[in-house]
Amino acid sequence: MILNCGVTLEKRKLLIQLDGDPQPSVFDQVVAYDAGADVVMSYGGVTPEAIREKVHGAIFTRGPKDLHRTAIFIGGSDVALGERLLAEARKHMLPQFGLRVSVLLDANGANTTAAAAVRAAARHLDLKTTKALVLAATGPVGQRVALLLARQGAEVRLGSRQASKAAAVAEAIRAKEPQAKLEAVAADPAGDLSTALAERTLVVAAGAAGALLLPSSARRSCPTLRVAIDLNAVPPVGIEGLGIADKAVEYDGVLGYGALGVGDLKMKIHKAAIARLFDRNDLVLDAEEVYALGEGL
Ligand SMILES: NC(=O)c1ccc[n+]([C@@H]2O[C@H](COP(=O)([O-])OP(=O)(O)OC[C@H]3O[C@@H](n4cnc5c(N)ncnc54)[C@H](OP(=O)(O)O)[C@@H]3O)[C@@H](O)[C@H]2O)c1
Repeated sequence: MILNCGVTLEKRKLLIQLDGDPQPSVFDQVVAYDAGADVVMSYGGVTPEAIREKVHGAIFTRGPKDLHRTAIFIGGSDVALGERLLAEARKHMLPQFGLRVSVLLDANGANTTAAAAVRAAARHLDLKTTKALVLAATGPVGQRVALLLARQGAEVRLGSRQASKAAAVAEAIRAKEPQAKLEAVAADPAGDLSTALAERTLVVAAGAAGALLLPSSARRSCPTLRVAIDLNAVPPVGIEGLGIADKAVEYDGVLGYGALGVGDLKMKIHKAAIARLFDRNDLVLDAEEVYALGEGL
């Protein structure tokens, strides 16, 4: 738009929020505004079949030079559905004509939470030499934590109550990162965790809300442990003895982070990712790209 005084106004920053849940997330809307979106256009109950129309609405309206001011956010509580929505959205962009918009996937906060957990670990450890145990590495957050750690060069042991589930995740990560140093182990919180914990310098507990994964006796029995990060904010917490708001609080020589302690950085990464969407129109922000945005925050 050009005002008659000769000043050119940029088009408003539109964030198209595509959410698989029936009601689009209020949390994601608030963060979007706080991160600089001028308008958030929210859609709930979004299915892969509905994506084509949404992408076409985004890319065929403004010309290529203004498309960096339209972007898509994919949320919702179902991370697997979010991944399908992202794949579908990419299919309907037309990059050969410059007709595309940037997209961020953060269904269930999985990418921003995993990125924040790994960034928190990196404040204290050299990830290239870190020996990590990711407990509940089978959930969407745990899988991303394991992938990001592996991409930074860490040795990653993936824990699950069923070793076969951890092995399937290890295989999926190896398909994305062939150099990854991965090992799948059984890690039942009610059983003996000494094999899973042996030689670990980092443990990240990514279990479901309210699931205790690491009793304090097991944590204390691991002399190599330096950093323990718990992502479960719902009591009982995932790593017994840690507080949910802990941020590098020391317990017996181990620095502990609770879910809210990591949440602060997660929020900064989330806002940085939304803001980044409006810098250009060709970004796809998934786990690795979101992690990169956390540098220096
Ligand atoms: N702060 C934030 O913004 C934020 C955002 C997203 C997630 N989170 C938190 O991060 C954690 C991980 O999220 P997620 O979505 O990946 O979790 P999830 O899918 O609900 O569960 C992750 C894993 O927990 C294990 N698990 C489930 N029930 C269990 C039980 N009763 N006892 C022991 N283990 C159990 C399962 O692993 P196995 O079957 O392989 O053992 C499951 O794959 C959650 O606590 C979530 O609340 C926080």
